[in-house]
Amino acid sequence: MANEASFEVALKRSNEIRADIAVNPQNYRMLTGDRPTGRLHLGHYFGSIMNRVAMQNAGVECIVLIADYQVITDRDTTDHIQDNVYNMVLDYLSAGIDPNKTPIFTHSAIPALNQLMLPFLSLVSEAELQRNPTVKAEMEASGHELTGLLLTYPVHQACDILFCNANIVPVGKDQLPHIEITRQIARRFNNRYGNIFREPEGILSDAIEIPGLDGRKMSKSYGNSIMLSATAEETAKIIKKSTTDSDRFITFDKENRPGVSALLTTAALCTSRTEVEIAEEIGNGGSGQLKKYVTESVNEFLAPHRERRLELAQDMDYIKDVIHEGNRRVNEIANERILEVREKMGMIY
Ligand code: TRP
Repeated sequence: MANEASFEVALKRSNEIRADIAVNPQNYRMLTGDRPTGRLHLGHYFGSIMNRVAMQNAGVECIVLIADYQVITDRDTTDHIQDNVYNMVLDYLSAGIDPNKTPIFTHSAIPALNQLMLPFLSLVSEAELQRNPTVKAEMEASGHELTGLLLTYPVHQACDILFCNANIVPVGKDQLPHIEITRQIARRFNNRYGNIFREPEGILSDAIEIPGLDGRKMSKSYGNSIMLSATAEETAKIIKKSTTDSDRFITFDKENRPGVSALLTTAALCTSRTEVEIAEEIGNGGSGQLKKYVTESVNEFLAPHRERRLELAQDMDYIKDVIHEGNRRVNEIANERILEVREKMGMIY
């Protein structure tokens, strides 16, 4: 999956499935998730959360995972993890995930999901694990040594997907190698022990990737992110601090003007306008006027989300209930599944 040709194939397949989801939502079960390493930002919103809500509302059966065991793949601490998990639920619900339809669960509460890791590890070779380009990139980016968990987390991700029989998995491009290994594991298990797993498909977002305020990928670790949970004032501040350039006349030119263009894209996504239209409107107004427009657009777009968030945060017991109920429902699914797996393997005593 490392090259552009295979990406094109994945994208084509993904678009075909998206079209079919609109007609036959009942044929799909979606699982996807996030690592609770911090707050969710606009990149998460446009890149995946919006998409999940749309699938849920189209009638696809959805399950959302807060991947807490994946936090320790490339860091040595679980500091703030509880707070991160609660805040993630606040953002999911504020964005329109309905917990009555879509269970939200955490890895660490689902023993049977984690148990799948044992048979699955036996189905992959060390060489295959070592070849995963995303694992390599993440190891380099984090500066962390290659722990056993970092090397094998794509297998754990296969457990996430296969325990609940999900057949569609909305992911970013960087996650495609993990979908591929999941398909291989499903195939190999079926061949070895009998047919039980479906091969899932990765669904790529059709949204343009939202750049961070500096034009690089929006990422908490780059300090270039607009958090969904930020106040209007905090949002204004971070946009004001963003780097533009000395050319007063505003144009959309990603290559040569990454800062200005990232601001234009941010405003375009929040207002459903085009970057060029906004650039032309601001013209000689310079980056001051551009930043003012972006701040207003973002704050206006996020106002209802932030309002719901504040309201929900008044009752953290409810947020905890959502997680407990999600974990309860998902445990039922996982417990049934592990029994079937053990039956296939002859491990029933
Ligand atoms: N690795 C994913 C990410 O960093 C999060 C994740 C964990 C996930 N388990 C998953 C995504 C299963 C899809 C399916 O974004």
